[in-house]
Parts: sequence; structure tokens; C-alpha cells
Amino acid sequence: MISMDRNTSPKSPLSKEQIIKAVNRTNIEVYPEEELTRFKRLYAERNGFSPENIEVANGSDEWLQKIIMTLGKNGVMSLNPDFFMYQIYTNQVGFRYYSVPSREDYSFDYDLTISEIKAKKPSVFFISNPHNPTGVLLPSHFINELADAMKSIGGYLVIDEAYGEFALDHPVPEGEHIIIVRTMSKVYGLAGLRIGIVIAKGKTYETITRINHPYPLNSLTLNLGSEILSNEAQLNDWFEYQKKLQQSLADAFETVRRHIKIKPTHTNFVFTYGDKAKDLYEYLYKNGYRGRVYDEPNLKNAARFSIIDEDEYPRLKELITEWGKSYD
Ligand SMILES: Cc1ncc(COP(=O)(O)O)c(C=O)c1O
Repeated sequence: MISMDRNTSPKSPLSKEQIIKAVNRTNIEVYPEEELTRFKRLYAERNGFSPENIEVANGSDEWLQKIIMTLGKNGVMSLNPDFFMYQIYTNQVGFRYYSVPSREDYSFDYDLTISEIKAKKPSVFFISNPHNPTGVLLPSHFINELADAMKSIGGYLVIDEAYGEFALDHPVPEGEHIIIVRTMSKVYGLAGLRIGIVIAKGKTYETITRINHPYPLNSLTLNLGSEILSNEAQLNDWFEYQKKLQQSLADAFETVRRHIKIKPTHTNFVFTYGDKAKDLYEYLYKNGYRGRVYDEPNLKNAARFSIIDEDEYPRLKELITEWGKSYD
């Protein structure tokens, strides 16, 4: 079965030789101090941040949880749908969770969202942008309005950019009320290493990192992350490759747009919906390609599929085309 349900890369960006090199340079008898400093410096340089505004943890998931634990006391709000873990982590600590429902076509009512913020006054608003599960890039005017609304009630806006590298040039608002969460699990292709990154300023940075462990990631993970970050040309080629896989995925589904609805993707997956979307999902599943479907009632007519190895696309496209013909 080919997995299209995890939003991860089908391949590793690091060769076996590079992995061995990183293992060999790892001093497992000491705590990871230099390794952490080096990783932060390399990540900051690559992404145009300052190392002192960056901290790492075990996956961006850990940051989502930490942010809720430290800042979420007066309630957490997000869109519905959005990344499910926002609600799960809020429930874990017993804080109030609010959500703003999408329209039937999975677009969002921006004015309603702002008025809900003003009415409920949550302490944190989480938004994934590019958005999971729809894959769209929400417009910067909406993100700015969210930021202003959260600032006006003394709260915080968390912009979860798990798929940020797939979307070119999307400016983000700045200030101590903004927290950016990133990961190396998606475009970097390193989900197994669990490298999550947070970027925040001033007192906000201090508050969310206050509950950190002294050594948040192990030396080998940090050295492997640094290995890819220190090879700029290789990383650029890798990003291009990921975007090529994204394009092949979008092209494969485009062939049946007359039967299902497809959101424009700014991520490593495509989101399909409509009364025949589940049928296509089942057809692909029967033929060895496993997408992602949902139990939630508002997503019952939706299915999501993430990138696969380039060798698997011709068969995928053939299957999708074949399925489309059965409805013509
Ligand atoms: C929007 C979003 N945020 C965060 C995560 C968690 O990523 P990780 O914990 O691997 O860094 C995911 C994973 O699918 C995601 O889709």
C-alpha cells in the first residue's frame, strides 16, 4: 500500500553517507550544547531569523502543546477544519476550545472569524497557513486582521507554518503577539527526526520556552538537521524536487476536476471534496493508494492525498483517469 495519508516526503533528503557522517561527528557521551547552537544558527541563517528568537522541540506538535499550556488559559480558538491537534492539546489541559466553522465549500468567513474573536476573547488563536487540511494559502489581509484582533484583546496569534516553504512570499505580521511554528517534517523530509521550531519575540519567547527541558533535542537529531541545512545547493535542489512532486500530484487529480472539487494546493497534499470524492478515495485505496478520510461530519465528503515517489505517479494518474471515465 502506498501511503498518501501522512503529508510526509516519500524519500529522505540525506544520503546514507551523509547520515553516517552525522553519526560519526556525534559525541554521544556529552550533552548537546554546541550541536544546538550550530543547528539554531544554520536554521536562522537559512530562514532569515535571528537565532535568539528560535527554539526547538520534539516536533512542532510539542510547540503547539507548550503554547497552549503556557498561554491558553483563557481559551483557544481556531478555524474548523484546521489541524486537529489544536483542539486535542486544549482538551488535554482542560482549557476552553472555540472554533469558527468554514462554509460548505471549506472557505472561511473572515468577518465572522474576527467577530468571534471579539466576542469570545480567547487567549490564543491558532491557524495553519498554508492550511491543513484544505492546502490553501489564506490571504495575508486575513492573517493581518487576525493578528490585529488578537492584539486588541491582549492575546496571541500562532501561525503554524508546517507547509510554509511550499508557499512563496507570504509576508507574516510581526510583534510580541505573533508566534510562528515551523517543522522539518514536511518539505525537509525529516519527519522521523521530530524537529519542531518556534519563532517568537521578547516576553512571549520567554513565556513559551519557560517550560523547556534543558536539552530539547538529542545530538544526533541536531547533527542530522544541520547536515542538510549546511548544504545549501543540495537543500535548494531538494525543495525543488518536493515542489515537483507537489505539481505531479496536482496534475494527476486535475484530470478529474469535472467530477470532484479540488482546492489549489500550497502544501505537499491535495484536498478533494464533493459527492464523488469518497468514491475516488475508495477506488484508489482498492488499487493500493491510501489517502486520508475523516470521521468528522463536516469532512465526510472530503479526502486528502499527499505526495508520493515520482515512480508511483504514472500508475496513479492512470487510475484517476480510469475512475473519471466511469462517470463520463
Ligand atoms: C498544520 C500542521 N502543524 C503541525 C504538524 C505537526 O508536525 P510535526 O509535529 O511533525 O512537526 C502537522 C503535521 O501533519 C501539521 O499538518
